[in-house]
Amino acid sequence: MANIKVIYQSRSGHTEAVAKEIADECGTTAISINEPNMLGPADLLFIGMGVYAGHPDSSLMDYLDQLPVNTIRGAAIFSTSGRGVDNTHLVVNLLEHKGITVYPKPCLLKGQFLFVAKGRPDKRDFRKAREYAREVMNAFNGE
Ligand SMILES: Cc1cc2nc3c(=O)[nH]c(=O)nc-3n(C[C@H](O)[C@H](O)[C@H](O)COP(=O)(O)O)c2cc1C
Repeated sequence: MANIKVIYQSRSGHTEAVAKEIADECGTTAISINEPNMLGPADLLFIGMGVYAGHPDSSLMDYLDQLPVNTIRGAAIFSTSGRGVDNTHLVVNLLEHKGITVYPKPCLLKGQFLFVAKGRPDKRDFRKAREYAREVMNAFNGE
């Protein structure tokens, strides 16, 4: 059985809500990067991020930067943002630099910001997140 973990960075709870769906689908619990426990090794690590001024939060970059090498085999990234577009490249680059294989498709969902993407993430987003989790796990198991 693969060791799957889910971590997230979230300022206002949108990414956290998605992380909980993904973790539940994977049979685990979502871990905030602010929780003081050591992550430990993982075969597959789901990483959740919000987008702020086009970027991941610096706390997430610092957290990932400090992951010990050779402890994480594969990673998959999900994000919530007002526009729902791909702002994951900095995280992808950092992970690949550490020798971690990143699933080629991120899960990009919307998260409300002022009057943009009102009510998101919603039930449909949560369903997409769960589908994504299954897709990544299947790909990982079929390696
Ligand atoms: C300070 C700030 C800056 C933001 N900048 C962007 C942005 O550049 N592009 C975007 O699509 N969404 C932007 N958003 C919207 C957030 O990405 C969105 O609300 C996301 O769901 C937040 O996730 P969280 O609740 O997990 O922190 C911004 C939100 C805040 C609070």
